[in-house]
Amino acid sequence: MNVLAINGSAGKDGNTAVLINTVFEELHKAGIETEIVQLSGKIMEPCKACWACGGRKNCVHKKDQFQEIFEKMKQAEGIILGSPVYTANISANMQAFLERASVVADMNNDADLLKYKVGASVTAARRGGAIAALDAMNHFFMLQNMFVVGSSYWPMAYGQTPNWGR
Ligand SMILES: Cc1cc2nc3c(=O)[nH]c(=O)nc-3n(C[C@H](O)[C@H](O)[C@H](O)COP(=O)(O)O)c2cc1C
Repeated sequence: MNVLAINGSAGKDGNTAVLINTVFEELHKAGIETEIVQLSGKIMEPCKACWACGGRKNCVHKKDQFQEIFEKMKQAEGIILGSPVYTANISANMQAFLERASVVADMNNDADLLKYKVGASVTAARRGGAIAALDAMNHFFMLQNMFVVGSSYWPMAYGQTPNWGR
């Protein structure tokens, strides 16, 4: 089994990456292969509502790295979405990515691009908005007919910058 994680943080290897790597540690114990894609340094464009993705199984716009990341998503059996809380929700980059991924999946509904994959989300907040961020990412999974992994508590953590106070 292989799991792809997408980190929506503007900060590479920040708190969200720490959370993703914590999940990875458990997956590695079970022999599951993992890969992390960091959106840091990349700019995800929003959906242009052109609907040209119908029948093409990917977005047609090539200005950013969406196509490449979405191909990885289609290949993965499990998907982890990680985002810091920005203005009480997911980051704009993660929102733009999920917006386009949702439209591509919907416009290619007969291809079952993400159906029955396993999904889990994590979020890092400084103060407030973590539940809204988790909900946004879990809603994406649910819209794709995916299985959402539960937890014994909300998969969120609090901190400003990584390693603060250590
Ligand atoms: C643009 C921006 C907006 C933020 N908005 C919030 C917020 O609404 N609520 C909150 O708790 N933290 C907010 N934060 C703080 C981050 O969620 C927090 O520092 C998080 O741990 C960063 O994770 P990262 O290291 O993976 O980027 C914001 C940070 C930035 C850069």
